Amino acid sequence: MGMLDGKVAIVTGAGRGIGREEALLLASQGAKVVVNDVGASLQGEGDDRHPAGEVVDQIRAGGSDAEVNASDVSSWDGAKELVQQAIETFGRLDILVNNAGILRDKMSFNMEESDWDDVIRVHLKGHFAPSHHAAVYWRGRAKAGEDVSGRIINTSSEAGLFGNAGQANYAAAKGGIASLTWVLARELGRYEVTVNSIAPRARTRMTEELFSEMAKATDGFDRFDPKNVAQLVAFLATDDAADISGQNFIVYGGDIWATGGFHPVGELHRDSMWTPEELAAAKGELFKGVSSGVPPFAIA
Ligand SMILES: NC(=O)c1ccc[n+]([C@@H]2O[C@H](COP(=O)([O-])OP(=O)(O)OC[C@H]3O[C@@H](n4cnc5c(N)ncnc54)[C@H](O)[C@@H]3O)[C@@H](O)[C@H]2O)c1
Repeated sequence: MGMLDGKVAIVTGAGRGIGREEALLLASQGAKVVVNDVGASLQGEGDDRHPAGEVVDQIRAGGSDAEVNASDVSSWDGAKELVQQAIETFGRLDILVNNAGILRDKMSFNMEESDWDDVIRVHLKGHFAPSHHAAVYWRGRAKAGEDVSGRIINTSSEAGLFGNAGQANYAAAKGGIASLTWVLARELGRYEVTVNSIAPRARTRMTEELFSEMAKATDGFDRFDPKNVAQLVAFLATDDAADISGQNFIVYGGDIWATGGFHPVGELHRDSMWTPEELAAAKGELFKGVSSGVPPFAIA
């Protein structure tokens, strides 16, 4: 018995890295999985279909069912075909894991227009387009009086939550994904669809330089194995997580933080307008006990 027996899932960008482990784990928990991957390089070029095919082969060898889908998730029609493929092949859709992504890190003053456009498109539109088509499907089923238990699990990043130098395009997209998560959670709750996001850390081709040293586990536990991240995603996909929505989680190794939304760190109140001169005099009160400088990156 798996926790996802009878469910049908889509995982985008599932040919490699974190998405691959998510697809394999959802399948091992009983879900039928559409393994989406356009087969892009880290920078978003090319169309190598082999990695997604290998994930499907591995799932089938393990006794579950899976299909490849090679849609570009940032294409409106491609995302529609992806959702339709799940419904037509496996008869339904229960879980959408938005994970596909690319990287073009540059300082803002060195960034090309295409670096901005492509990263925003693949991450932000690449999350919204499949979510839109899945939402149309779930809303239609709910309005037809059918039971719906939908799940969207988005992939944000600490860069998007805290801002990271050299990642203006990526952090803007990932911050947008966190905001999109709150909007979709508010809109789709009435149709029994939960929407959450994760901000993972894992050793993949996206981070192999960053985490290669840290990845050397000394105690036998590989904290940067993407398998660690997949466990939380699989849990959020289950019926046991039906009461969790609009939440974000920072996750790596055995550490999970539920981060919620933005929280005030200081406040000023009165029943009249503040002038700039008065704000200059009151800034100490606004930031009483906390720094007024750039907030620290990350929580640990
Ligand atoms: N690895 C980390 O530590 C880390 C940290 C924070 C966030 N993330 C996020 O996790 C997600 C997965 O990253 P990863 O580290 O596994 O990277 P990865 O490069 O190993 O995998 C990303 C996959 O997405 C696919 N892809 C790219 N563009 C696509 C498109 N338009 N349509 C369909 N598929 C597409 C690629 O072909 C690739 O297989 C990304 O959204 C990334 O931003 C990763």
